[in-house]
Amino acid sequence: MCGIMAVKGVGAVNGVYEGLKNLEYRGYDSAGIAIKDCNGIKAFKSIGYISELEKTGVLDCSGGIAIGHTRWATHGGVTIENCHPHCSEDKKIWVVHNGIIENHKLLRSDVLAGVVFYGETDTEVIPKLIEQYYTGDVWQAFRSAIDKLNGSYAIVMMCEYDDKVYFARKSSPLVIGKGNGFVVSSDVNGLIDCSEKCVIEDNTLGYIDNNLHIYDKNTNKININWIAMDERSIEADKGGNEHFMIKEINEIPRALQSTYNSFLKSEVVLPDNISNVLLVGCGTSYHSCLMGKSYIERVAGIKSECVIASEFIYSNYIVREGTVGIFVSQSGETADTLSAIHKAKELGIYCIAITNVRESSITRICDSVLYIDVGVEVCVASTKAYTSQVLMLMLLSDVIARNLKCEGTCKEDVLGCNCGNCLEIRANEYNDLFNLDIKSYLSKVRGVSEEIVKKDKLHLIGKAVDYITALEGALKIKEVSYIFTDAYPSGELKHGTLSLIEEGSIVIAIATQGGILLDKSKNAIHEICARGGKCIIISQFPEEEFNEVIWCNDGKRCVKRGEYIPLPNLNSLLMPIVSIIPIDLIAYTVSVMKGYNPDKPRNLAKSVTVE
Ligand code: AGP
Repeated sequence: MCGIMAVKGVGAVNGVYEGLKNLEYRGYDSAGIAIKDCNGIKAFKSIGYISELEKTGVLDCSGGIAIGHTRWATHGGVTIENCHPHCSEDKKIWVVHNGIIENHKLLRSDVLAGVVFYGETDTEVIPKLIEQYYTGDVWQAFRSAIDKLNGSYAIVMMCEYDDKVYFARKSSPLVIGKGNGFVVSSDVNGLIDCSEKCVIEDNTLGYIDNNLHIYDKNTNKININWIAMDERSIEADKGGNEHFMIKEINEIPRALQSTYNSFLKSEVVLPDNISNVLLVGCGTSYHSCLMGKSYIERVAGIKSECVIASEFIYSNYIVREGTVGIFVSQSGETADTLSAIHKAKELGIYCIAITNVRESSITRICDSVLYIDVGVEVCVASTKAYTSQVLMLMLLSDVIARNLKCEGTCKEDVLGCNCGNCLEIRANEYNDLFNLDIKSYLSKVRGVSEEIVKKDKLHLIGKAVDYITALEGALKIKEVSYIFTDAYPSGELKHGTLSLIEEGSIVIAIATQGGILLDKSKNAIHEICARGGKCIIISQFPEEEFNEVIWCNDGKRCVKRGEYIPLPNLNSLLMPIVSIIPIDLIAYTVSVMKGYNPDKPRNLAKSVTVE
């Protein structure tokens, strides 16, 4: 997603440049910086990584104000002309923007008819509108231009008429830090060397001179709420690891402990008489929702449904009496999920957020918030946040169960319960989770990764919750290795996708559910091996359990067509949390073997703040 930076004060150019580097993890395809000094405003732009920007000589310049931007192309190609910052015709007004101006075409043909545009972006209408309205009062011109915009935006503007930095926010995040000077960013990770931060509320605008001034849309002044910088938010370094992805996978046990502690401290407020739970998210967070559904139906015994956020927004969703909405988003800024929440609230649904980022947009529009508190997740591919989202949803299912069924004794014992309805997990079993040995998987993972790296397609299968793990695993592998990877319920193979299995096909089979589900999983594994495929089995059941289905006769001799990655044998409720870990490691290992950077997959962003 696009990143915004602006610094007013000492070291403005370097502050913007370093801030943009801290925003690289969000994903982008070009970058630019504009600098204001005593001679006016000059812009430097480059395609590709921010290191390309350094070659323009921008760091040899200095100025009292600088604004910068990393662009993830939405409107217009990846070209220098479309790279931010964008300017007015007279080059006296410069703007960076994150979001989408929905009415930019109308503005070009109507209010800005006759104005000469150099690029294709929606953003370029902003400085040209300000120029159109400028008659000597910059603040007035800025407000008039903002009033004309429809859509989502985080905007920062500077000009040659004064030494102020102007800003406006609608739906896209914006935060201001105070250090030697003032720093404005779309992401708290851009607030380098700031001691305090102020989160800019939605539908507000303002400017910075020697102080910060914020107003609502009716120019009523808004009080400034400075918050001490959270150390957690700037710990984003690799800690000696080659990539953030492996660092964050290794952090999973600690992250789970942190989530558990966050849950114990939380006071999630639930309405009475819940009879239906709607779970909404995108990508990995949608997969967490699917796990949440399985927990809520199993532990609380009430109907649940999952909808992908971008589908929910435009659906004719029929609200049932007693519906509660749970919205899952690691970043808390995903536009589709935020729009889904707005729709749910219009439908009168009580909204609970599960997120990782304090003060993120989702926390300000939901009725109740649960923080997974896993620390900064920098890698675009979500790993520790996913396992913690799943744990939080499992714990929340227990709260819903108690809220519905349990009185008296259950309240004393936070997470074990003798009513027979709630979670049957004892405290020591959680410790098994918090003490997982991630490194124990590595030798097996490396072996299977060396086979997978040669493939151009991959399949994952599972039954019940293992199918959900297969979906999440497929996303993880495809998004960092670029191998086409698909996931199916084990029982569906014979209904079509078995046609894809041929000699040498590789299928990752997750089998953590016992009883009849294990038997059915073994049947599916046999279907694959008997047709020349090879299964990588991820299970806590003994390897011998699968021998009968992975040894097959190829017409000449008996051959073994399976590899086995053992899981710790935990409470079945906890298995969905541990079964994804070896697949995360496979995704990471294959990506690195292919020479890619798993932290910044092509075309992807960490937080998709546009619909
Ligand atoms: C996960 O690996 C992906 N990067 C992506 O699917 C992500 O989960 C999705 O964009 C939702 O992000 P959020 O959790 O911040 O809302």
